[in-house]
Amino acid sequence: MTESTAKLEFGGKTHEFKVRSGSVGPDVIDIGALYKDTGAFTYDPGFTSTASCESEITFIDGDEGILLHRGYPIDQLAEHGDFLEACYLLLYGELPTKAQKDDFDYRVTRHTMVHEQMSRFFTGFRRDAHPMAVMCGVVGALSAFYHDSTDISDPHQRMVASIRLIAKMPTIAAMAYKYHIGQPFIYPKNELNFAANFLHMCFAVPCEEYKVNPVLARAMERIFILHADHEQNASTSTVRLAGSSGANPFACIAAGIACLWGPAHGGANEAALNMLSEIGHVDRIPEFIARAKDKNDPFRLMGFGHRVYKNYDPRAKIMQKTTHEVLGELGIKDDPMLDVAMELEKIALTDSYFIEKKLYPNIDFYSGITLKALGFPTTMFTVLFAVARTVGWIAQWKEMIEDPHQKIGRPRQLYTGSPERDYVPIAKR
Ligand code: CMC
Repeated sequence: MTESTAKLEFGGKTHEFKVRSGSVGPDVIDIGALYKDTGAFTYDPGFTSTASCESEITFIDGDEGILLHRGYPIDQLAEHGDFLEACYLLLYGELPTKAQKDDFDYRVTRHTMVHEQMSRFFTGFRRDAHPMAVMCGVVGALSAFYHDSTDISDPHQRMVASIRLIAKMPTIAAMAYKYHIGQPFIYPKNELNFAANFLHMCFAVPCEEYKVNPVLARAMERIFILHADHEQNASTSTVRLAGSSGANPFACIAAGIACLWGPAHGGANEAALNMLSEIGHVDRIPEFIARAKDKNDPFRLMGFGHRVYKNYDPRAKIMQKTTHEVLGELGIKDDPMLDVAMELEKIALTDSYFIEKKLYPNIDFYSGITLKALGFPTTMFTVLFAVARTVGWIAQWKEMIEDPHQKIGRPRQLYTGSPERDYVPIAKR
């Protein structure tokens, strides 16, 4: 790592700060001593210019449309590997050997069941509860069921908690779905791989045989790989911030799930599908495009634009291909919502407003369409995102806990409220 300095003129003095270079990507100016040296804070709402941590896990170049996990391009991982291989890579830093992969698959598979008492925990929720609300509650409750993996100072317990979270998340997600639609819970089947087992737990019923379609299982696998990690996004930063106080990993992941729920983040695929259904017919697209461009209208085209990618999202390219594979396999051709989606994609890619602002279709645009074709209701879309992202959250959380320079995250503020004033008794106000 090379080091240079940046100079800042402030308060009549010149202050010097170390500039640090990563292996790839922009340099960072280390302003850790800024407040001590100058008495001033930096101001960066939304953290658009702030590197909040040092990390070796994921690299994104938004201008070039590059996404690397531990150096490996996402398209190669999605094309050649499976989800648990991507999990191993994110957690351990290297691709596994055959023996390591078999051992890891075995360890994850042996943790897929949840404590039987947890099934009764679900019945406390209303049937019409949003499955993300159920996820926030049940995942947070894991810390009440698995006490032997909440000591964050023990490396063995940290790894057990990580494996448990990766393994149990699909089971909990499928249970949330089954409870939502009033069907009995389906236990995991260890002979199936991660994605096939998940489809089985969601779509099998006890009264008949369910055969997992391999094309659909592969599509589910791709969706999981493509969503596995994405650097310091809002939910990952939430997990790190929650973890920085020493909170247990299950509580931190529950915090990440809550953050992911928002429509500007993981909720976008659900919002994209709801928008397609609201548009309803290709004839109404111009009206919605006009609304998206109107500065006085808060409406945005859901599934378009990204905070980091100002080029085609590399995940969206793979997802687009997967979408067409799934639609072909299921023989879906004349779906009005799909017609709207394809026409919207065409217009947005050629319209000057979207081109100038670099608003490309993002992964959520295509994953929403695919998940609908797979048979999931829109309310489950963000839940599936959470299942996939759990490994990213936990790998980032582990990295933070194992960083010797780690301290509690505590941002400051630019205070614009009233200066000190005296209390006024109620009769005199
Ligand atoms: N439709 C219409 N205009 C848009 C859109 C959109 N989807 N996204 C951004 N803009 C405009 C925005 O109005 C602004 O215009 P102007 O410069 O005239 O004020 C300009 O583009 C820049 O927008 P911004 O809000 O400053 O950009 P941002 O980086 O803060 O926002 C975003 C990124 C993803 C929140 C935003 O593009 C958005 O709301 N998109 C729709 C929701 C969505 O699809 N989110 C999923 C993100 S990918 C999943 C994930 O990784 O979590």
